[in-house]
Amino acid sequence: MRVVREAGGGGGGVGTRLLTEQPHLLQRIAAEAGTPVYVYDAGTIRNQYSALRQALRDIRHRLFYSVKANSNLAILELIRKLGAGADIVSVGELERVLEAGYHPDTVVFSGVGKTPNELARALDAGVGLLKIESAAELEMVSELARRKKIRADVGIRVNPDVSADTHPYTRTGEEGMKFGVRRDEVVDVARWTLAVPEVRLVSIGMHIGSQILDADHYRNGARTLARLVGELRTVGCDSLKTVNVGGGMGIRYTSEHALSPDDFVAAVRPLADETGLELAVEPGRYLVGAAGLLLTTCLYRKRMGEKDFVIVDAGMNDLLRPSLYDAVHDIVVIGRATASATPAIVDVVGPVCESGDFLGLGRQLTGVEPGSLLAIVGAGAYGFTMASSYNSRPRPPEVLVDDGRWAVIRDRETVRDLMRGERSLTEVENAGAWIQ
Ligand code: LLP
Repeated sequence: MRVVREAGGGGGGVGTRLLTEQPHLLQRIAAEAGTPVYVYDAGTIRNQYSALRQALRDIRHRLFYSVKANSNLAILELIRKLGAGADIVSVGELERVLEAGYHPDTVVFSGVGKTPNELARALDAGVGLLKIESAAELEMVSELARRKKIRADVGIRVNPDVSADTHPYTRTGEEGMKFGVRRDEVVDVARWTLAVPEVRLVSIGMHIGSQILDADHYRNGARTLARLVGELRTVGCDSLKTVNVGGGMGIRYTSEHALSPDDFVAAVRPLADETGLELAVEPGRYLVGAAGLLLTTCLYRKRMGEKDFVIVDAGMNDLLRPSLYDAVHDIVVIGRATASATPAIVDVVGPVCESGDFLGLGRQLTGVEPGSLLAIVGAGAYGFTMASSYNSRPRPPEVLVDDGRWAVIRDRETVRDLMRGERSLTEVENAGAWIQ
């Protein structure tokens, strides 16, 4: 068995453990579960988790896994058993983490547009912390808490106005963006909580973006948070327990230098030291990104003028990141290349009816022919969770590999699943379902 890795195709990025150690297993999974299929490696998740814990060992801290990165129940349970809490952004994610056995106390609720129903459900479930992103949201929470005769623990998500070295769509901590409370409004918002018995301000934090490779951005944001903690204490806020530095730690997809846990911790340590507060971190991609692959099969080769296309059975609906962010994921051919095979520069594209449906452009791959199995690497985070059924393509199954064994942790969707809840016009007529 040979795994063909090449410049431009396989640059030695993350997430290759399964490829290098268990290519036969991947072939078996593809044969039995079909392609496209997401495959996750439990060992990688455990290793990433321990590396971060190790870097944080002498700081009082708690980790909250950012569920949006990969919300499969088995992954959630695996991470809970490692000791993490959860960072959620919707009632859907709340129900998932409760289902996966998270204690509500260990759950923090983020998000710029939580609905009254979502906030009410979170209060009823006893979610540990509601992270407030505006004064209006804070008023909504206190009103709900008053009606329920409870006190809600809240945190303020600050917009620290720092940029991040990442795609514009995944920056969240700059002035003029929708996220968080402006720096100069934080003290007023905090003062307001002092006057309202139904809310208690226990946390202040930020989340400045995702796939951040330069620790300086955290350093800058953390400085702002430390200053704000000082100001809040001056105005009488003595209920703060945690400072939250969000998620965003960048991983290596191709040739980037991942942000190392040590560099990350060195940047945020002064915040914990100076404030004496517990540090909260919300890693998503860092824990699961490298653990996942998307396996796909080559359907056809096609030449169009200068272009050489490899058409595969996975598309932008299965893995959106290349189309949405121009994200580059390594693509690796699994299996034997014949001796006569020559390398080619190809665009790896899917079956979806959009020219933006590509998984990799200008990649050097060898010996790809109809039936060849390809792995899209580093697809464990924001892969399946951003998948859609566009073009009525059922979403792929998910498989977990642990210690040489594997299990399907989500079945392939069926076309029937996709039509669930729909009604034909004839049914509407027959049921007299028109509403005047
Ligand atoms: N905390 C909050 C409040 C967040 O909004 C996020 C991610 C995280 C933590 C975790 O960030 P991570 O450690 O995974 O970078 N779909 C994009 C990424 C969007 C991230 C959204 N928020 C992508 O595929 O790159």
